[in-house]
Amino acid sequence: METIIFATKNKGKIKEINAILADVPDVEVVSMEEAGITVDVVEDGTTFESNAMKKAIEIMEASGKITLSDDSGLEIDAMDKAPGVYSARFMGEDTPYPERFVAIFEKLKDVPKEGRTARFVSCIGCAFPDGRRFSTYDTVEGYIGYEAKGENGFGYDPIFVSDELGECLAVVSPEEKNRISHRGKALRKMKEILKEELIK
Ligand code: IMP
Repeated sequence: METIIFATKNKGKIKEINAILADVPDVEVVSMEEAGITVDVVEDGTTFESNAMKKAIEIMEASGKITLSDDSGLEIDAMDKAPGVYSARFMGEDTPYPERFVAIFEKLKDVPKEGRTARFVSCIGCAFPDGRRFSTYDTVEGYIGYEAKGENGFGYDPIFVSDELGECLAVVSPEEKNRISHRGKALRKMKEILKEELIK
């Protein structure tokens, strides 16, 4: 049994990731907390990929184990793709999401529906102790709604309407979100890489 660490402290992400990686044979995916790793990685990269690889490499070095990481965020086209890589810290890390939603709705108040396009982006990084490095990337396209809706998911899910589902991500079930989400798609790509690399 190979133990792989997932480098995140975000409980919302851990739930999604465990559901997707559950069927990788002979692998147990544990969180940093479960692995007893307390290292704080400074996410100072300007791209999702640089942050994801930095997290994977630093936690792999601290743990000695294969490490996966995710760097993700929301790009709102009418806000020059903000909050982007700064999504977690937008308006301050401790600012409640409902306050952030109010600010975003205010910024978009004169923007017609066709200009409210947005996407969630996810980059999954992977670092093996023997030097192998991989990354995968995917998005889910949609638009910013006019009110916050739903109780599921986390982060900006209540204001993001998926084009494919025609519904807010906080309204749909976790399974439905995983099927179409940025992280779901990028993780399934990484799962295929892992299945190949683990038998080498
Ligand atoms: P990270 O932990 O630095 O990757 O920050 C990602 C941030 O982007 C999260 O804290 C959320 O604010 C936002 N985000 C990423 N993925 C999602 C998602 O699936 N739903 C809602 N918000 C998300």
